Amino acid sequence: MPARDFGRGAAGAAALGAADELAAFRARFALPKDGRRTLTYLCGHSLGLMPRAAPSAVEAELVRWAELGVEGHFGAGGWLDYHERFAAPLAALTGAKTDEVVAMNTLTVNLHLMLVSFFRPTRRRYRILIERDAFPSDRYAVQSQLRFHGLDPREALLELGPRRGSFELDVERLETLLEREGERVALILLPGVQYLSGERLDIGALTRLARRHGCAIGFDLAHAIGNVPLALHRDGPDFAVWCSYKYLNAGPGAVGGCFVHRRSAAAQGLPRFEGWWGHDVRRRFLMERKFAPLRGANAWQLSNPPIFSLAPLAASLALFAEAGFARLRDKSVALTGRLIDLLEAELGRRARILTPRGAERRGAQVALRFDPPPKRAAQLAQRLRAAGVVADWRPPDVLRLAPVPLYNRFEDVHAAVRALKRTLDA
Ligand SMILES: Cc1ncc(COP(=O)(O)O)c(C=O)c1O
Repeated sequence: MPARDFGRGAAGAAALGAADELAAFRARFALPKDGRRTLTYLCGHSLGLMPRAAPSAVEAELVRWAELGVEGHFGAGGWLDYHERFAAPLAALTGAKTDEVVAMNTLTVNLHLMLVSFFRPTRRRYRILIERDAFPSDRYAVQSQLRFHGLDPREALLELGPRRGSFELDVERLETLLEREGERVALILLPGVQYLSGERLDIGALTRLARRHGCAIGFDLAHAIGNVPLALHRDGPDFAVWCSYKYLNAGPGAVGGCFVHRRSAAAQGLPRFEGWWGHDVRRRFLMERKFAPLRGANAWQLSNPPIFSLAPLAASLALFAEAGFARLRDKSVALTGRLIDLLEAELGRRARILTPRGAERRGAQVALRFDPPPKRAAQLAQRLRAAGVVADWRPPDVLRLAPVPLYNRFEDVHAAVRALKRTLDA
């Protein structure tokens, strides 16, 4: 579905809309409204919309609880192995084997669990490398892990800055840094898609680079899962973590997930924080004293999962399966391509697009800066909101817009650019 085959005007959007095989999925989501006006929602990079099937998925578990009490844990659809239903769809979305993924906890919790296992500082190799614009929670997690090991983050945390005036990860500088410091780096943590700029990183190439220098490597996939194609098993990072409330549409604070590569999970002597949900499921209720880990990522589970927070994820993943990820990605590339074309055509030099142009190097999100910067920058998103467009603003002065292929239309992209132009002109 190439964006350029159609005219730039509203007629072009209508033609693209008519050719959109996935258009019917929009009706499967609750669309936020402002009075009677349906909002133009381009904020799925922050919180995805609610699948209409989510309330009944939660309701079904409430009814099970009401009707069965403790016996709801057992039998068909029971909660004892409830999380197992997520392995296949999550493996499909991440390009993993089913024993490499698990739905559990939230992103930062999972990151800590992974750092416990894969950040194993020695006297010579004790540093963690992150990007300068890493999401704050990732930074807090690695800083606190360093301190936990008696290390001073001011010395042991290495930060890779972008080239001056750029927001993109500078792989050349990363290579140079690793040539110099690689022997002292124990672990590298990078995003799959950068939260601010929307840049998609090459997980395979970065993993190979980390391996060449003997470093463990993990990825934060908060902005990547459900957004861009992933091939984690093939690419081979040690671990990855994600949340499910952005492109996975599972609701605020939904249960996140974790990938542990088979090779890394099988490593001897790996330290791990453990709990009973990681214990062999057939023997869990024997109340044994010795921990018998499940195979693969499942062994990192601690507690029995919050079923009411998992149920919406099931409703959402069913939509991904029905739509097919390849078709979603094609539409996403076309939607975002159209958004970039329109922004360039309508705003010209006034807007600087921070997201890489090439479809392979981005996901759904487009990040913008303005020249000159609006006087009250943070109010731009509010003024857009008043015009019926939901986007968001992140410091220092970045506006983020993400058309999501499951529920956004080509018309939404046009409406957003029109509103943005009017807002800047006002
Ligand atoms: C890139 C990134 N990493 C980490 C987080 C933190 O996620 P959580 O609150 O689930 O730990 C977020 C939240 O938006 C995020 O965008």
